[in-house]
Amino acid sequence: MTMRTHSASVIVPVPSNIRLTNEKFPLDHLRHWYLDPDFAVLAPDLERLFRTLDISCTPSAENEADFILRMGSDPVPDVWRMTVSSSGITAEAGERGGARYAVDALTQMLFASVLTAGRASALLDGAEIQDAPRFSWRGFHLDSARHFQDTATIKRVLRVLAHFRINVFHWHLTDNQGWRFAGKTVPLLDGEGTWSCGQYTPDDLREIAGYARDLGIRIVPEVDVPGHSARLLAKYPQFACDPAAPGSEWCLGNPDSLEFLKRILSELMDLFPDSPVIHIGGDEAETDHWEKCPMCQAAMRERNLHSMRELENDFMVRLSRFVAERGRSPMIWGTCSGQVYPPDTIIQVWLDIREPLKIAAHGNKMVYSVHNSLYFDYPANLSESWEPWMFELSERGVYMTDPYIIWPEKVKDFMLGTEACLWTEAVQQHRVMSKIFPRIFAYSECAWSQPERKSYADLVRRRELLEASGLTDYLKGL
Ligand code: ACM
Ligand code: ZN
Repeated sequence: MTMRTHSASVIVPVPSNIRLTNEKFPLDHLRHWYLDPDFAVLAPDLERLFRTLDISCTPSAENEADFILRMGSDPVPDVWRMTVSSSGITAEAGERGGARYAVDALTQMLFASVLTAGRASALLDGAEIQDAPRFSWRGFHLDSARHFQDTATIKRVLRVLAHFRINVFHWHLTDNQGWRFAGKTVPLLDGEGTWSCGQYTPDDLREIAGYARDLGIRIVPEVDVPGHSARLLAKYPQFACDPAAPGSEWCLGNPDSLEFLKRILSELMDLFPDSPVIHIGGDEAETDHWEKCPMCQAAMRERNLHSMRELENDFMVRLSRFVAERGRSPMIWGTCSGQVYPPDTIIQVWLDIREPLKIAAHGNKMVYSVHNSLYFDYPANLSESWEPWMFELSERGVYMTDPYIIWPEKVKDFMLGTEACLWTEAVQQHRVMSKIFPRIFAYSECAWSQPERKSYADLVRRRELLEASGLTDYLKGL
């Protein structure tokens, strides 16, 4: 026995508006599909969908099609609408993002319908659906530095993310334990790593960037400085305060540091020509090396600065100016240590729920990633192992996240959106998907849906149905 549910009431993330009707469209009537030529990139997805569910549906002219995805007149990014009636399915989007989301919603409805009615009697219920995102920045961050993931795994992750309407892939490419892009500026940094080995060649990066582009995902590549740099400084100790014991922090007083970093960032920007935002790290640098370093002390005095945190801020502002002068937007982790950046710098809030108030007062745009709500490396339940710095991050906890918290009027004009972060100190490649699922369902709704449309009990119902339908396995496959 299987519970029937209205087919439009399975979609994750929940759409802005659904009007249910009593019409029915049997899947056996789904014989022909038509895509606007601008949406041709979606043809392989439709073919795979119909093949998987044993629906014999082939391309045709628009006037013969039962599923039509046409170009709408409204070019607002990611917006889509769909009508299911007894004569077929008609969807509309003004650009590719929305078109993809319409296909993804159809995918979920078809999987659920085949599960609940069986392939032979499967049908879609009538509905008029209108949908638009709450946030333009719906991010997911993956740490490929601590544990490396190969190109095939990154592509699988991107495909899953796109299905859940994530449109920003923040890629943490360097850290103490590994340097993951092969560059001419840093030839001594190969794929060697503390916990795993591997490196992306320029060809790998191009392939992944092209794949992401087709999925409507922007990549935000990150080189994390001035801390988190032990791997680089072990090979290039001349940029550390003490070359005999280089540690993790760049020397801020050595003028060559900034010049060398600019060369690294130039190369990164060349490797990611489509990336409008470049992340330069900025988190968790320790001040001890700088306190003891004559060059750092001299730089602080010369620049009339009063602390090592001010010197760090000055260094990172210079680096952010370099990124901005090259036409990209700089992004940085918030430090909660009083640092201030020009308003064109995007700040990623991760430490403190109150930080958005301060950032809004300085006029910076921000992305919300507060760790105890959105760090996907934290255990989903306590059967998993955890590290001392972690909190439990259940599906419920993710679902409750709202980046406006209790200050909507103060922060809303500055909040670009959300980003879930998967750090990989303890996550090897083979566990990446198990950390993404099932919380990605809940996260998708935080990033996309209007708060008044959310209901946790209903999310669980939809997630369980879609998991049982085989959708999750379908998404994990390529
Ligand atoms: C961070 O978690 N260190 C940004
Ligand atoms: Zn120094």
